[in-house]
Amino acid sequence: MKNILVTGGAGFIGSHVVRLFVNNYPNYNIINLDVLTYAGNLANLKDIEHKPNYTFVKADICDYQNMVKIFSEFSIDAVIHLAAESHVDRSIKDPFSFAKTNIMGTLSLLEAAKQQWDGNFTGKLFYHVSTDEVYGTLGDDGLFTETTPYDPHSPYSASKASSDHFVRAFQDTYGLPTVISNCSNNYGSYQFPEKLIPLFIHNISSNKPLPVYGKGENIRDWLFVEDHARAIDTIFHKGKRGDTYNIGGFNEWRNIDVIKVLIRTVDRLLGRKKGQSLDLITYVNDRPGHDYRYAIDSSKLKDELGWEPSLQFQEGIEKTVQWYLNNEAWVLNITSGSYQQYYKDMYGK
Ligand code: NAD
Ligand code: TYD
Repeated sequence: MKNILVTGGAGFIGSHVVRLFVNNYPNYNIINLDVLTYAGNLANLKDIEHKPNYTFVKADICDYQNMVKIFSEFSIDAVIHLAAESHVDRSIKDPFSFAKTNIMGTLSLLEAAKQQWDGNFTGKLFYHVSTDEVYGTLGDDGLFTETTPYDPHSPYSASKASSDHFVRAFQDTYGLPTVISNCSNNYGSYQFPEKLIPLFIHNISSNKPLPVYGKGENIRDWLFVEDHARAIDTIFHKGKRGDTYNIGGFNEWRNIDVIKVLIRTVDRLLGRKKGQSLDLITYVNDRPGHDYRYAIDSSKLKDELGWEPSLQFQEGIEKTVQWYLNNEAWVLNITSGSYQQYYKDMYGK
């Protein structure tokens, strides 16, 4: 029996990782540790919450003493660390909370793991889930590889870059067995509707303006979240200790083209006239420090560990739009309350 601590398991990607591990590995105990910020939602895990190999613990990764206690109480063998503040726009308004959670929180977990394992590292692993945004921005050519130098531009990516450095420092200094993956933009069910794809699906279906930053020409490499969860599973089991793997879909899109696909799909599924929602597109001031292009070369992961994305973007978007339209109650539940204030502060209405 292995005891695996998944941090941030009530969030978007974390909930998909928890679901996959709980369902696929009945011989693992999955301990989901999450403090339940605005982005954490236990409703994301309703389907597996009563499984015998699943436990939820509400705790803050920054609380080092409590992390030490939890590592010992559950006899943790491995960590999959996803807990983070994850939204670039929020990091521009409040960089402190990003430094606290993403840097100090990661450090607190690393120290707790080091203390618990006490030099007996056989069968132990600290898996840190990171982002391609640590590499900065690309021009029109080239792809991020695992050896691209770090060059973060937003407080979010700077805090994630720093946490990656701490993870490597613990591997090199104390021999803590670690692995890091850096993934491109994810989309799919259970994503908080402050991020582009769920926000725009929600706004299109409720006839609200679509705030496109700048000219909408920035490029992102989109990956279906369940493919990311599968990649994490592969790297967790087969990844080389001390190594880094890039995860991406070889699926680059300009924002404005993604938005047009969303409009076409939502309008069709709601039985509206073709192109009816194009008028909702509203160009607004650009995000400060807005990275122009992200694109991941994930061939190392394919060549060494055999992982490949399973879904084409059109198919993934169709599934995703259908999910949000069928789960209006989930969206309404989490977009009430303090999110309304955030939306007003961010977009003025
Ligand atoms: P999310 O914001 O949806 O979820 C984050 C989760 O962490 C929430 O459940 C929240 O409650 C929890 N959390 C935050 N602070 C915490 C704390 N102090 N203690 C305990 N729990 C805390 O984020 P996400 O999009 O699911 O991203 C998960 C991870 O994947 C992050 O580390 C992020 O940097 C990384 N990542 C995300 C993407 C993406 O496209 N969303 C891409 C690549 C990498
Ligand atoms: P986002 O989902 O915030 O992810 P990230 O910034 O981590 O890539 O944004 C994706 C792209 O969409 C990014 O180029 C910013 C743009 N964007 C908008 O144009 N309008 C919006 O309201 C949001 C949230 C994002």
